[in-house]
Amino acid sequence: MTQAPAIPHVVGVLGGGRMGAGIAHAFLTKGANVIVVERDHEAAAGAQDRVADAVTKSVARGTLNETHEQAMSRFSTSTDYASFIHCGLVVEAVPEDYDLKVKALKAVEEHLSADAYLASNTSSLSVTGLAGELLRPANFVGLHFFNPVPASTLIEVVLAKETSPELAVAAKNWTEALGKTAVVVNDAPGFASSRLGVAIALEAMRMVEEGVASAEDIDAAMVLGYKHPTGPLKTTDIVGLDVRLGIAEYLHSTLGDRFAPPQILRDKVARGELGRKTGKGFFDWKD
Ligand SMILES: NC(=O)c1ccc[n+]([C@@H]2O[C@H](COP(=O)([O-])OP(=O)(O)OC[C@H]3O[C@@H](n4cnc5c(N)ncnc54)[C@H](O)[C@@H]3O)[C@@H](O)[C@H]2O)c1
Repeated sequence: MTQAPAIPHVVGVLGGGRMGAGIAHAFLTKGANVIVVERDHEAAAGAQDRVADAVTKSVARGTLNETHEQAMSRFSTSTDYASFIHCGLVVEAVPEDYDLKVKALKAVEEHLSADAYLASNTSSLSVTGLAGELLRPANFVGLHFFNPVPASTLIEVVLAKETSPELAVAAKNWTEALGKTAVVVNDAPGFASSRLGVAIALEAMRMVEEGVASAEDIDAAMVLGYKHPTGPLKTTDIVGLDVRLGIAEYLHSTLGDRFAPPQILRDKVARGELGRKTGKGFFDWKD
């Protein structure tokens, strides 16, 4: 009988927002002891609620082999980075700001044992750049979870130049233990997922701009013709046009003109048409 790959006994998550709570829930429901560290008590209480809600949903779906109480007995929150002391792995999920992440990662690293691993859930920043700021870059890796974490089966494992081969293997094993599939990418702007996702979305926007077809028909071409679950423009509306513009600007600056944001994207963002969250993007979401 093959043995299931192990996840660390104690897993830390820095930042228990949308992604951090999802990541905490993922490890918790696979048997790990999980601690979320937040910036203040109010945020910690919010993280506690999000994880408890996610566990309630797992119970309702029948995907948990234990009670809500049993799972939550392994969960705790804190506002003190020193609480990570016993973690074999800490996953950072604070907002997407390079300086904030560097400061937070360095502070976490101070409290970890020399053999503990540190990961970032960054969706676009240079993992090699972040690794270079740390004392033990070989112990650092990108673990790019997708939103919403419970429903997504993908984790992009992003290897910094200095990520150790042992950690690369461990990251794949953790992914499998979480019931997800790993895609392993050598650190490059946009990794694999954002680079390809944004490339197709920008081309779809240019097609709207040039009057090639309507947003509905462009999306339908990809959904019906290529079996994409959601068209590139609707996906952009769901992600947020401002978020996509930020990524496109970053990819433009790192990979060149093919990622130059189309004017239609800039105009919509300037008008506050940010997609689903504002009720209008490439589609109308008011209903
Ligand atoms: N939302 C998505 O769709 C998505 C998908 C994949 C990856 N990501 C990445 O995940 C990361 C987090 O995104 P999110 O959407 O969960 O953001 P979020 O704003 O929902 O959560 C961030 C959390 O970090 C906490 N925080 C801020 N500074 C902190 C500090 N110094 N110490 C401890 N906690 C701190 C905040 O209180 C908040 O709860 C980002 O890097 C983002 O790019 C997001």
